[in-house]
Amino acid sequence: MRSAQSPGAPARAVLLAMACGVALSLSAAPVSAQSYATRPITIIVAFPAGGPTDIVTRLLAPVMGAELGQQVVVENVGGAAGTVGVARAARAAADGHTLLLHNISHATAPALYKSLSYDPIADFEPIGLLADVPQTVVSKSGLAPKNTADLVAYLKANAGKVNMANAGRGSGSWLCGLLLTSAIGAPLTQVAYRGTGPALNDLVGGQVDVMCDQITNTIGQIRGGKIQPYCVTTKSRSVALPDVPACAEAGLPGFEASVWHGLYAPKGTPPAALEQINKALKTALADKTVIQRLADLGTAPAPDADVSPAALRAHLAAQVGKWGKTLDEAKIVKE
Ligand code: MLT
Repeated sequence: MRSAQSPGAPARAVLLAMACGVALSLSAAPVSAQSYATRPITIIVAFPAGGPTDIVTRLLAPVMGAELGQQVVVENVGGAAGTVGVARAARAAADGHTLLLHNISHATAPALYKSLSYDPIADFEPIGLLADVPQTVVSKSGLAPKNTADLVAYLKANAGKVNMANAGRGSGSWLCGLLLTSAIGAPLTQVAYRGTGPALNDLVGGQVDVMCDQITNTIGQIRGGKIQPYCVTTKSRSVALPDVPACAEAGLPGFEASVWHGLYAPKGTPPAALEQINKALKTALADKTVIQRLADLGTAPAPDADVSPAALRAHLAAQVGKWGKTLDEAKIVKE
């Protein structure tokens, strides 16, 4: 799906909203013995395999499985900017054997889609936040501009001719593209994919020109010289990519666009199961191998205090409110 994105969106509001980090509180609950888990557990990822949501989920799944005494299987259910997979998770049996690992899209969807078949707050039990992942602004190899200032000039000079990939309305890559469009004040032709896994493949293949994507997905291709990095969407540089400037230092002040992730269960999942899943998530995020692998990919686990139902509940509610207001002010119409 291609669409010209208007440069008229109020960049400041979107920038501030993207920059909102994970600031939360913890409520611990006692763990009690029960009959959970009795069979393999499925974590639904609402984007295709190989993308950043999938990468993080597959890192955590084996450690969580060992803790829960059952295999944890990842099921990719992509489509409609993640809303197909989320709808599937909302309808699953509320017994702790189907979970959803989803990103910032969970909070933006209500502001963007007229007929969502689920309520991201009412239909889910929050389990915990797990990571807030920086994005990178990247292009296909060989695109003329070699730094961010030149990229901005190039995008302005080629208004409407440059294709920008994203994972659908409301996704992290789409929000970052909205910021870029606002920052350059010129339209980009947006090309929506089911996720940034396939989008990145097309960027490497040269079928699209530019994109934003989470560092966990792009870092390998950047290090391998297969795509061109311009900047990282955090206040300061990533230690994993020390030669790539932060967007702010590269001439895009305030350009911050990280992507937070949370784990959920369908509404009505028994509290005892939720406690065990939260414990397994905490164990996975404290695992040395997981931490090292996340660091290699340019990110880190959420602070332990944020890996709680209360923290994710509060964060999600705040983010739904924030994005509802921000996207409305930006005159992004519901589809
Ligand atoms: C994905 O897993 O494809 C991404 O998280 C999509 C995005 O939010 O840009």
